[in-house]
Amino acid sequence: MSRSFYIFGNWKMSQSLQLVAQFFENFDVDFTANKEVAVFPSAPHLYQTLEYRKAPQIRIGAQDCSAHKEGAFTGEISASQIGSLGCTDVLIGHSERRQYHAEGNPLIREKIKRANEAGLRVCLCVGESLKEREAGQLDAVLKSQLEVLDVSAENLLIAYEPVWAIGTGKVASLEEIEEAHKKIGKISGGRPCLYGGSVKPENAKEILSLSAVSGVLVGGASLKAESFSKIYESCP
Ligand code: PGA
Repeated sequence: MSRSFYIFGNWKMSQSLQLVAQFFENFDVDFTANKEVAVFPSAPHLYQTLEYRKAPQIRIGAQDCSAHKEGAFTGEISASQIGSLGCTDVLIGHSERRQYHAEGNPLIREKIKRANEAGLRVCLCVGESLKEREAGQLDAVLKSQLEVLDVSAENLLIAYEPVWAIGTGKVASLEEIEEAHKKIGKISGGRPCLYGGSVKPENAKEILSLSAVSGVLVGGASLKAESFSKIYESCP
């Protein structure tokens, strides 16, 4: 049986609506059942993205959701609002949320619960900073960030994204990726785990060939249809 792969594109706050339309005009891949593709546009573009996407095989997700169900929370977007648009996925705990919005386990747990209630699949992002890695804290960081798995979440994938490799052009070595993914596999009971951090067409194939890697979460190189298609086609 062929392995299953998840090829996810995190568009962050980097895409105009015009570029989103252009992406779908040019994103042309041979969809196969074992290779799943999802993109995560900015919240204001979610609805239009669902309209623009030509192939229903492309899953659309949000980059975050509120920890609250509903109510007076100005600026927040609830998981059920995301789901009601027709989106199926949500990223939770991305390092940029942890870093710039001080998100930690208590909040992340609530977000996972809300996503579950709304029927969204969660992609939980974890990963250590350079300082933590250099201090030999990789195990401790992963263990602590994965404590949120005590929330019963059936529909949840993990993305390992070392903070020092995100948007820096510095990719973790294959050994480092494999080592971290094996640790995550042990802690999480073998949940699928994607790698993220400066993934591009030039390195996707070797990363995806690692047996502990179930896919990739791509930032910069997912903005252009051409490079994201190449990454999609890189699955072994
Ligand atoms: P990058 O971002 O591919 O631009 O490093 C990855 C991410 O933050 O998900």
